[in-house]
Formats: sequence, C-alpha cells, structure tokens
Amino acid sequence: MRVLLKTKAAVVAVLMASTTMGAAEDVEVLHWWTSGGEAAALNVLKQDLEGQGIGWTDMPVAGGGGEQAMTVLRARVTAGNAPTAVQGLGFDILDWGNQGSLANLNDVAAKEGWDDVVPDALKSFAKVDGKWVSAPVNVHSTNWVWANKAVLDANGIAVPTSWEEFTAALETLKAAGVTPIAHGGQAWQDATVFDAVAMSVLGPDGYKAAFIDLDEETLGSDGMKEAFDRMAVIRANVDDNFSGRDWNLATAMVINGEAGFQMMGDWAKGEFLNADKVPGEDFLCFRFPGTADQVTFNADQFMMFDQGGAVSAEQAALASAILSPSFQSAFNVVKGSVPARTDVSDADFDACGKQGMKDLAAAAASGNLFGSMAHGHAAPASVKNAIYDVVTAHFNGEYDSETAVEELVDAVSIAK
Ligand code: BGC
Repeated sequence: MRVLLKTKAAVVAVLMASTTMGAAEDVEVLHWWTSGGEAAALNVLKQDLEGQGIGWTDMPVAGGGGEQAMTVLRARVTAGNAPTAVQGLGFDILDWGNQGSLANLNDVAAKEGWDDVVPDALKSFAKVDGKWVSAPVNVHSTNWVWANKAVLDANGIAVPTSWEEFTAALETLKAAGVTPIAHGGQAWQDATVFDAVAMSVLGPDGYKAAFIDLDEETLGSDGMKEAFDRMAVIRANVDDNFSGRDWNLATAMVINGEAGFQMMGDWAKGEFLNADKVPGEDFLCFRFPGTADQVTFNADQFMMFDQGGAVSAEQAALASAILSPSFQSAFNVVKGSVPARTDVSDADFDACGKQGMKDLAAAAASGNLFGSMAHGHAAPASVKNAIYDVVTAHFNGEYDSETAVEELVDAVSIAK
C-alpha cells in the first residue's frame, strides 16, 4: 500500500486505513522519503529486510523536512496505533523518548557495539536516560549548494567562495536569462537556506548562541539583521513560481539547466544521482560560501515505538539492519548522506560523498559541527516552528529585516 499525504485532512483516512494494515510479523514504517532519490534509497532498506523474511508495510507521508509525517504520527499515537518504526529527527526523537513512547534497544546496541561507532553528536539524539531509543541511519548536512556545471561553464562562473562572488554569479545568471536560484517556498526550505546564510554571517559561535543557546542578544544582533538582508537578496533571485514548490522539483530545475544553483541539504544529491547525473561532470556540490569549515547536520533515525512490551524481534532486526556497516554504505551512497557510523569506508562514495565524510570528521574534530535549526537538531519543535514563521514571513516580504529581527527575538522568547 502506498499512501501519499499532502494535507492534514488526510490524517483521518490514514487512521482508518492503518487499522487494517500490516500482519503481526511485518514492520510498518512511517517516513517522508517520497521523492525519486529518496525512494531509491528506501528500497535498499526494504530489500535488506525482505531478504531476512521480514515484511514491509509502507507508510509514506509526503512533505520534505517531515512536518506532515510528524502530524500523522501524533494522530496515530493518540489513537493508540503507533507504527512499528518511524523516521525522526533530533529533538522530536528526544520528545517521544522522554514521553516513554519508544522501545529500549539497549540489548541489540550492546551486542553490536553501537556505543563505540556512533559519534556523540548523534548519540545525544538517539539515547534517552542511557537507553538507545532509535537507530541512526545517516548524517545529512544543510549548508550545501548544488550547481549545474554546464550552466556555470557557459556563463564563465567559477565556484563562488564568498558572498560577493556568489551574488556576482547570481547577477550574471539573471542577465543571461537563467533562474539564479531554484527554490521552493515552503517554510522548511526557507529555513534550510537560513541555516547556511546565518552560519555564514554569524560564524559558528553566533550560530550556536542564536539557535542552540537561544541567546536573546545574538538573536537581536546586527549580524542577524545582515542574515535577513541576505535572505532578501536570495528572494530576489528565485523565479516567480517558487511559492509552494516541492524541494525535489527545485532540484530538477538545476538538473535540467533551468536554474544555476539550489541551496539545499545533501538529499538533493539523491535526485541528481537518480537522474543519472555525475558529480564533477554534470553537477557541482560545494559548501555555502563562508561556511567551508562548518557543518550544520541533521541525522535521520528510526524510532522504534513501544508496541506494548519489550522490543519486538522485527524491530530489533530492523535496527540491526540499519546499523550494519554494509547497509550504512549502500544506503547513504544512494541517499546523498554519509554514514552514521565512524568506521565505514568511503570507497563506494562519489566525490561529494567523500567530501561530506571528510567535512563531517573535520568539523567534529575542530568544534565546528552544529545541529541544523531547520531540521530539528538545534532547538525543540516549538522554537523551530517559531523561527520558521519569522523566516518565511520575511522571505515573503511581510516585513523588513529590522522588523524580522524584532519578531525573531519575541517569537523565540515566547516559544522557549
Ligand atoms: C531529512 C531527509 C529528507 C529531507 C527532504 C530531511 O529532514 O533528513 O532525509 O530527504 O528532509 O525530505
């Protein structure tokens, strides 16, 4: 069964359908991997489990960033019908764990030595009170830019390394009649762009102070106003039809040469690969100018919902399959992310994947690895949503940068 949910109204239909889904020995997996590249990656996991004789009941809920999926999840849990396994991010996992909704995976984790191979940055979102409650699948990062190489070459544009070079490239593309930036006007996409822009202006200390420590002074600083000013420049370089566009359709604009750049997490690479495009030849990946040494990360994990007792054999098998080094390589090669274990070889990864693994290790070692605000790894959902509202309102021209800064300070102080 394949259900694509676009609206909250569809939740009711799902609740009804789900009661008839899934034999006892199946795993029912709720996720938001519905684009071509994401579905290709998910198939790696499905096939792995099917090879072990475990059935898969698919519960896809469309909507990048997972907001709609989390709405469906809340409805399912409230109805006493939690799925077996659920894709989750950062603070959402901790919330469910703290509520006691998740099964304890410590036995399988101890048997397989997860503590030794999963980095601390991920463990802090996978363990609650010393208990493993979710299985880390990958590490994505949000401060990437994706470019069409032929478009850049045709316009004499080299990979920009500063904001000034980036804006010059945008001007050149605009003059050539190419959409400079492919973007989808959805709150989570606006916020994904903001992750990188804020990091480039505020630097690592400022990013941490603003989005992780929620420091009022930094949220209200001149640097934050500058970040909003840069968002306005980006807004001036998207096409007229950006509003509401799904992220993978924006990626397609770069793939087919309609647009020069997309600022997006490395799940975008999955779309290029799914379209048979080759990094370095057809497309380029680089860190947003001014953030070359930083990584703003988010890690997909599968939370195992307590089905009324100990972790089930199927949940343990799913968790074990996810953490296996061969799966971590095979899946992440396709998905665009990098492994959640530190001991997986980069041999099978393409140039962008190898760079992603190197950047992650370097950022972790130099104290430059930070949770993505946009993808729920900097602050709890209430704060994240408050920041989303301000970023999106400003992006859509509801107010200027100075007002945006004031709104940001107020919104965060109310939400936290
Ligand atoms: C997830 C990715 C996913 C992306 C777009 C992010 O929050 O971590 O796995 O591909 O959203 O749907």
